[in-house]
Amino acid sequence: MTELDSNLPIGVFDSGVGGLTVLNALRKAMPNENLIYLGDTARVPYGTKSSVSVVKYAEQAAAALIERDIKLLVVACNTASAVAIEPLQSLYPQLKVMGVVGPGAEASCKVSAEGRIGVIATESTVKNNAYQDAILRLNPSASVTAQPCSLFVALAEEGWHSGELVERIVAECLQPLTSQVSDHLDTLVLGCTHFPALKSAISHVMGDDVVLVDSAETTAAAVEKSLVESNLINKQPGAGDVRFLVTDGPERFARVATNFYDEEIQLPEIQLVDIQHFKVP
Ligand code: DGL
Repeated sequence: MTELDSNLPIGVFDSGVGGLTVLNALRKAMPNENLIYLGDTARVPYGTKSSVSVVKYAEQAAAALIERDIKLLVVACNTASAVAIEPLQSLYPQLKVMGVVGPGAEASCKVSAEGRIGVIATESTVKNNAYQDAILRLNPSASVTAQPCSLFVALAEEGWHSGELVERIVAECLQPLTSQVSDHLDTLVLGCTHFPALKSAISHVMGDDVVLVDSAETTAAAVEKSLVESNLINKQPGAGDVRFLVTDGPERFARVATNFYDEEIQLPEIQLVDIQHFKVP
């Protein structure tokens, strides 16, 4: 790895398109930063895979970005953040590795009035207890209920974000949380890259008194803070450059991206890469 330079891009990876919600937040917070986004579209979804597989995928994605020289690595995928931050940080001690779970947990503890916090995420994220543990570390008296909602990933990718049918599906999936009459939630963490796309349907089902926490914005703020502290903020003026790498289906990536990303991505901007040859320990 070359010596870190403030002009180098921030590397961002996700299992596919959903991490573009985090890229959006990074673009808004730091418009002049250069960014490289890698979507492992060949192996999505991560949310139903074992931790062993997700750690291996994350290590290969990190290797592909580090080979291109980055100054900081953002794991935008909640499922990968839940299991791979520590392995990645010990593999690359010279590079700051940041995930979305820590900032999301922190934000939920800040906004929760009564500490009754719900987490919705993929099956793997819920099973790994990453959000539950992170929230309880910050607020040991919190009561945390986590519910897997992997079906929302497909809804969000297909552009089914609102309407009567979507709300019926959302209501059915969230039923274990809404039926907790004695321990009514005051905060709900959207612990998956795709869920902000369904925010209005989720809010409608949960009710106005439940605060929804989207970790994308808090992650962007944490990344900015880290860059300032390490004197790695890009001081060059002008809009930063964004590059896109995918491991499969650039056409689908460009099309589905419109559900998650505020800017239009043109097909020639997307490079198809193979990351499976990277040998990881
Ligand atoms: N990016 C994943 C997450 O945030 C959702 C999609 C997947 O299952 O890979 O957990």
